[in-house]
Amino acid sequence: MAKREVVLIPGDGIGPEVAGAATQVVAAAGVEIDWVELEAGAEVAVKYGTPLPDTVVTEVRRVGVALKGPVGTPIGGGFASPNVALRKALDLYAAVRPCQSLRGVPTRYENVNLVMLRENTEDLYSGIEHLVQPGIAESIKIVTERACMRISRYAFELARREGRPKVTAVHKANIMKISDGLFLECARRVARNYSEIQYEELIVDNVCMQLVTDPTRYSVLLMGNLYGDIVSDLCAGLVGGLGVVPGANIGDNAAVFEAVHGSAPDIAGKGVANPTAIILSACQMLDYLEERQAAARIRHAVDEVLVEKKHTTRDLGGSANTREYTDAIIEKLRGES
Ligand code: NAI
Repeated sequence: MAKREVVLIPGDGIGPEVAGAATQVVAAAGVEIDWVELEAGAEVAVKYGTPLPDTVVTEVRRVGVALKGPVGTPIGGGFASPNVALRKALDLYAAVRPCQSLRGVPTRYENVNLVMLRENTEDLYSGIEHLVQPGIAESIKIVTERACMRISRYAFELARREGRPKVTAVHKANIMKISDGLFLECARRVARNYSEIQYEELIVDNVCMQLVTDPTRYSVLLMGNLYGDIVSDLCAGLVGGLGVVPGANIGDNAAVFEAVHGSAPDIAGKGVANPTAIILSACQMLDYLEERQAAARIRHAVDEVLVEKKHTTRDLGGSANTREYTDAIIEKLRGES
């Protein structure tokens, strides 16, 4: 049988280190993938004048699935985010980020099990901003009925598929009455078709406070682009930090799997990054490719290595480097078969 093609974008900073770990773990789980490796990110921008060469978009569109490392984006100037551009170009409208407690990663809460669902294509990330005059800047928040309806449907379908009891729509419609009001109106319309799933609405500042007080109250958080971006990192902190939270960007015709974290320039090149987040993103990818058994085996191996605590990385209080941690997971996978 021909190997399944998947685009691999190693990215910047710790990207190549953690992406390399993920491809090795996938291979050790027995899934044969023909990786189509492509460059994107800040280093590429220096070489080719753009952080997202057209071939990346064309190839992900052709192949349909990609595993991506983080890419660096300059702050306050320079090129626009290649992540946002890729999500928009491929219409990857749903960012799906499962946030679950890991047995081997002690945190304040033990039984967090929620999915952060973030609308990925519009909101304040429309990139439409300008200086009205020196000293006055304007940034446009775009909210459309179409995007709100489809992300709301995605939330309730996900809840139904995974047997999740509740969807919480996160908003600031007390202030942004029209734009966030439209978001809520769409979520309410969709909620009416899913009577078995509880629906609630919470203001974003309140949800942040509630999450740090008791995150177990939530099951699916339905959010616009900006709130989703920020609340995702907050939720990552609840289960062990950015090194352990995976993510997927899903559209109707393509999907890009990537960790929530960035290129971590402070630890890049040192070989100490935690690859768990991208390994678990690769598991989401394997589920998407109907390789569910392999995904389950990898999750089990990661769980065992983390519980043993002999090979955990520095961010989790251990002293193992990326290589040692990855090898420990591979050893578990090989030991099983
Ligand atoms: P960051 O996520 O790169 O790092 C934040 C902190 O978490 C750092 O102390 C870092 O060392 C640590 N950290 C992150 N991932 C880790 C891992 N796997 N193992 C161990 N420690 C880890 O966020 P920051 O510093 O705000 O952003 C750096 C760059 O990454 C920026 O250029 C930003 O635009 C970009 N970025 C890219 C993303 C993507 O491509 N999906 C997502 C977020 C940021």
